[in-house]
Amino acid sequence: MAEPTAPDMLASASQSPILEMRGISQIFPGVKALDGVNIALYPGKVTALIGENGAGKSTLVKILTGIYRPNEGEILLDGQPVQFQSAQDAIDMGVTAIHQETVLFDELSVGENIFLGHAPKGRFRLIDWKTINNRARVLLEKLESTIDPSIRLKDLSIAQRHLVAIARALSVEARIVIMDEPTAALSRKEIDDLFRIVENLKRQGKAILFISHKFDEVYEIAENYAVFRDGKMVGAGQLADTPQENIVRLMVGRDVKDAFPKQAVNIGATVLSVKNYCHATEFRDISFDLRKGEILGLYGLIGAGRSELCQSLFGITRPASGTLSLNGQDIQIHSPGDAIGAGIVYVPEERGRHGLALDMPIYQNMSLPSLARTSRKGFLAAANEFALARKYATRLDLRAAALSVPVGTLSGGNQQKVVIGKWLATQPKVIILDEPTKGIDIGSKAAVHGFISELAAEGLSIIMISSELPEILGMSDRALVMREGLMAGMFERAEFSPEALVRAATGNI
Ligand SMILES: Nc1ncnc2c1ncn2[C@@H]1O[C@H](COP(=O)(O)OP(=O)(O)OP(=O)(O)O)[C@@H](O)[C@H]1O
Ligand SMILES: [Mg+2]
Repeated sequence: MAEPTAPDMLASASQSPILEMRGISQIFPGVKALDGVNIALYPGKVTALIGENGAGKSTLVKILTGIYRPNEGEILLDGQPVQFQSAQDAIDMGVTAIHQETVLFDELSVGENIFLGHAPKGRFRLIDWKTINNRARVLLEKLESTIDPSIRLKDLSIAQRHLVAIARALSVEARIVIMDEPTAALSRKEIDDLFRIVENLKRQGKAILFISHKFDEVYEIAENYAVFRDGKMVGAGQLADTPQENIVRLMVGRDVKDAFPKQAVNIGATVLSVKNYCHATEFRDISFDLRKGEILGLYGLIGAGRSELCQSLFGITRPASGTLSLNGQDIQIHSPGDAIGAGIVYVPEERGRHGLALDMPIYQNMSLPSLARTSRKGFLAAANEFALARKYATRLDLRAAALSVPVGTLSGGNQQKVVIGKWLATQPKVIILDEPTKGIDIGSKAAVHGFISELAAEGLSIIMISSELPEILGMSDRALVMREGLMAGMFERAEFSPEALVRAATGNI
C-alpha cells in the first residue's frame, strides 16, 4: 500500500469513523469466510466493498446487522466497543441494511412489508393501518415511486419489490446504511433515483457501505473502497486516486483480460421459429428464427418486454396469439413442463426465488431437473449426479467447499452459477439465459462467457437477455432489440455498433 498522502491524513485526522470493525473473523464448517478483516465507515461517506463471489462481503453485512456473531474481532461505534447480540440490537444501534436477498412476504401488503416488526401502534397497541400506509407512501415518494402501499407484494415487478426493500431499510432511523448489491434488479432510472437518495443520506452525515460488482456504479457513488479476497482485506483507500485496474488486480489477484471470448461457430439450420408472438399486455408481433449454434442477444431497456417474451416461450405465461416451431415441427407450450420436454429451458435472472432447494446439496440441486437422465432402473445413481454436477461446477468456475454442501451456504453469485448449471444439465436444444452474469464477479464473468461460447460451439442455440451492451456486442451473433413490447431492430454481428443498438432500444435518434 502507498504511504498515506497529506490530504489523506488530513481527512482521517479531521474525521473519525462512526463505525469500525477490527480483526473480524467468521468461521463456518470448512470455510473461514472472514479472516481478521478491518474496515472503517465515515460520516457522510460511501465505502464500496468489493470482492469476488464468495469473498466474504455478505458475511460482513450479516455480522454488522447482528445475524452472525463473529468468532474474533471487535466492532466500535463512535469509538466504543459494542456487541450486536441480535438483529434488533443492530437496528437499535442505528445500523440498517438492504440485503442481497431481502426477505419480503408475497401475501402481505407493501406497507406491511415496509414496517414489519416495527409497525407504528395506535391506541390500545393495535396496528395503525392508516399511519402505516401514509408513512409507507411518504417513504416511497422519496424514492420517486408511486407504488400503492395497500397492494399486495406479489402483484409487483422485480424492480418494484426492490424499491420496497429499500424503503423498508430507510424506514428505521439509521446512522449506518448498508446496501448489498442494491442495484442488481433496478433499471437505469431507478438506479439514478437510488443514487439521489444515497447523496441525500450522505448530506445527512450517514455512513454508507455499498456492495456492487459494477465498477461504474462504485466510482459514481463511493469515495472510499475496501477490497476483500478469500475472506481477507487486501486493500483499502480512496477511489479518486485508484484506477480500476488496480482494484481489479487486488480483487482477483491477477490482470483480467477482456471478458468476451466468443468463438467462431458454424451456424446451422433454424431450430426455433417464433412467429407473430403477441401477449395481451407485454409484447406484440415478435417474429424471429434462432439457428443451431447461434447466440441471439436480446437487448432493450428494463421493461421492454424481453423477460416476458422469454417467459412465454418457456410456458410460464401464455401468448395471446402466435406460433412456435422447433426443428420444423409446430409445437404447443402450455407449461414449463412442456417446454423442458421439448428441449427449451429458461434461466431466470431473479435471485432468491429461482427455485433452488437451499437445504439440499449442490449436486442434488444441479441434477433436479434432469433426474430422468441421472437415474437408472428407478433409483438415483448418486455417482451420476455427482459426475454431472462436477462437470458443470468446473466449467462455471463454481467456488464451493464441496459439492455436498447445502446450496444455501454458497455466496449469492455462486448460487447463481448453480442455477445456470442445473438447467444446462438437462441438455436442452434451446437455452434462454436472462441476465446470465448479473451478480457474477468480473473474474468469473469471463469463465461464464467462455462457457456460453463453448455451448454454442457444441450446437446449442442460445437466447441471451442482457442489459449490458458490451455483453450483447461481445457475445452475440445477432441482436434483437425490443422497445415497449415491440421489435425495434434485428442486427447482424457485422453491423453491430453501440450507437445503433442504443438508438433502437431508446427510440432516440
Ligand atoms: N451460513 C453459511 N454456512 C457455511 N458457509 C457459508 C455461510 N455463509 C457464507 N458461507 C461461505 O462464506 C464465504 C463467503 O460468502 P459471502 O456470501 O460472504 O460472499 P460474498 O462476497 O457476499 O459473495 P457474492 O458476491 O457471490 O455475493 C463463501 O465461501 C460461502 O460459501
Ligand atoms: Mg454476497
